[in-house]
Amino acid sequence: MKCSRSAGLLVLAASFNISLAFYLPGAAPHNFKQGDPVPLFVNALTPMLTGSSTAKLKSLINYDYYNPRFHFCEPTPGGPVKQPESLGSILFGDRIFNSPYDIKMLEHNSSCQTLCLQSNVSAEDAKFINDRIRDDYALNWLIDGLPAAELKIDSRGDYFYDLGFNLGNDEGPFKDTTPALNNHYDIVLQYHSPTPGNYRVVGVLVWPSSIGGSQQDTPTCDTDNSHPLVLSEQQTNSIRYTYRVTWNESDTPWATRWDSYLKVLDPRIHWFSLINSSFIVIFLCVMVSMILIRSVSRDISRYNAIDLSEDVQEDWGWKLVHAEVFRTPSYPMILSVMSGNGAQLCAMLAVTMVFALLGFLSPSNRGSLATVMMVFWSLFGCIGGYISSRVYASLGGTERRKNVFMTATILPTVIFTIVFLLNLFLLGAGSSGAVPFGTMLLIVLMWFGLNGPLCAIGAYIGSKQGSVAHPVRVHQIPRQIPPGPRYLQPWAAALLSGILPFGAAFVELYFVLSSLFASRAYYAFGFLALTACIVGLTTATVTILFTYFILCAEEYRWHWRAFLTGGGSAFWLLAYGLFFWASRLSLHSLSSAILYLGYLLLLVLLHFLITGTIGFLASYWAVRRLYSSIRID
Ligand SMILES: *[C@@H]1O[C@H](CO)[C@@H](O)[C@H](O)[C@H]1NC(C)=O
Ligand SMILES: *[C@@H]1O[C@H](CO)[C@@H](O)[C@H](O)[C@H]1NC(C)=O
Ligand SMILES: *[C@@H]1O[C@H](CO)[C@@H](O)[C@H](O)[C@H]1NC(C)=O
Repeated sequence: MKCSRSAGLLVLAASFNISLAFYLPGAAPHNFKQGDPVPLFVNALTPMLTGSSTAKLKSLINYDYYNPRFHFCEPTPGGPVKQPESLGSILFGDRIFNSPYDIKMLEHNSSCQTLCLQSNVSAEDAKFINDRIRDDYALNWLIDGLPAAELKIDSRGDYFYDLGFNLGNDEGPFKDTTPALNNHYDIVLQYHSPTPGNYRVVGVLVWPSSIGGSQQDTPTCDTDNSHPLVLSEQQTNSIRYTYRVTWNESDTPWATRWDSYLKVLDPRIHWFSLINSSFIVIFLCVMVSMILIRSVSRDISRYNAIDLSEDVQEDWGWKLVHAEVFRTPSYPMILSVMSGNGAQLCAMLAVTMVFALLGFLSPSNRGSLATVMMVFWSLFGCIGGYISSRVYASLGGTERRKNVFMTATILPTVIFTIVFLLNLFLLGAGSSGAVPFGTMLLIVLMWFGLNGPLCAIGAYIGSKQGSVAHPVRVHQIPRQIPPGPRYLQPWAAALLSGILPFGAAFVELYFVLSSLFASRAYYAFGFLALTACIVGLTTATVTILFTYFILCAEEYRWHWRAFLTGGGSAFWLLAYGLFFWASRLSLHSLSSAILYLGYLLLLVLLHFLITGTIGFLASYWAVRRLYSSIRID
């Protein structure tokens, strides 16, 4: 990584390189002998974001490789066999099956082989296939854990491996007519020989091409002198699938075989985003805290000085509401449940980031990210229960059992309902992305069987410790609240304060959304972790500042406002998600649109809970500090 900025950045860069160079401990290399079968597994077909920067993603629906309408060759005898997968891998849409490709280490080098002849592809199925080609669907294969990739050149002229390869071609001469189907695959398997006689697969490249003409003839695999295969949507078609395996020796050792897949396409943009946002944000944080600390300490010394001189003077500013700030807000139950859930999510994210930075979550371990998140979310039920019960007790709540019950069940139920409804749409669209029933059951079991009891234990510990001590007492009769300035109205404050955390994160957000929705691999976890820290810090600072402002305006109902102000960036996230839709997606089908909106709303909800909790807890801490520093007579 080129970096000549400063020593501090170099240290950071080094740590990022470490995180990229690490691979899952325990993923032992597989040694093949000459002639050993090298199985090829097929994964679901996914819509692909093609290279050019103006390309748009056209669908969000995955299809099983062995969906009968595709007419891909099936293994004989016995048909396709589903491969075992991790929970996260299933949730993220992997559906891995075996395949009839007959690949043996270092054998049949460059010889043309026929996979099968599908002579009965109906006109309707041909239309289905052509539509999928027009939507830029890609095939995803796995050989020895490595995904098949296409070799592409980026804007700087460097080679990189782009995951997946095209189902067909609808570019160039096929732009406005019937597209061509790729029915021939040139597979280049790069191997490395650590010791004589042992071979390891270190790279999988596929060049798909279309070979038309009579499909019944003996195949020649001559990709240069053949017409493309265009499926007719009026009559029954035949498709002959052929492939050619070329073994190419490589000096890439096993340990770095993922590097060409994981090359950060342009690290400069991540660096730019990070440096840019850190500068803005650190500058703002320092400025804000200086203003806050200076004016607060001035206030405090004035308040205390007045008390000492026993001058008869009116109190002003935030001191006026000292008998009100710890008054129980409306809906203390919901507020505490939300902060409990937010704290749980926050802890989960933090641990996941640490795992990712240590390199445990490299894409070589499929679905590990989602699995780790699910497991830690369930385990951190105790943190959720603890925070929720303590906040609830501090807010003066008494229905402790109801609080535990709601903390443990509401969020999982909401998420589950949304995912279940989206699943129905996926099933309706014939997609393979729908979460299977068994997996659903496992998740429900994990959430209610593991998260629930842990939440109860956490709540028990929390209620043993009881409420947080408040430095000032609450008056019997509530004060009048004078009308405040307009920018301190709850929604205006939320939108205003959300700009800063959002502004710090939006470049990185683009990559996160691309990887979530356009199945791009995401691996810049170092950048992501730093961005997340910056967002957390900014959210806390800005919320404290706004809470101070509203207390100065003698508005003492700060609890819900702090939550809303902290979660303000969620509204910007929603807006950015819609902008992303407009600029990078062009979804034709209703189900794709509903899926996108559904996942976006889920993301926004979780983001709101996390940042809202950070804002609320930070403000709670600040308000306690603030009021314990003045003398009240
Ligand atoms: C082709 O499909 C039709 C109906 O889909 C079936 O009746 C016919 O037997 C099939 N022909 C072959 C050769 O498989
Ligand atoms: C396979 O064939 C290609 C060219 O067709 C050649 O470059 C390569 O060295 C061959 N590999 C082996 C293992 O013979
Ligand atoms: C084999 O690898 C070399 C470089 O390592 C490359 O130049 C050559 O084109 C590759 N051969 C094939 C058939 O891809």
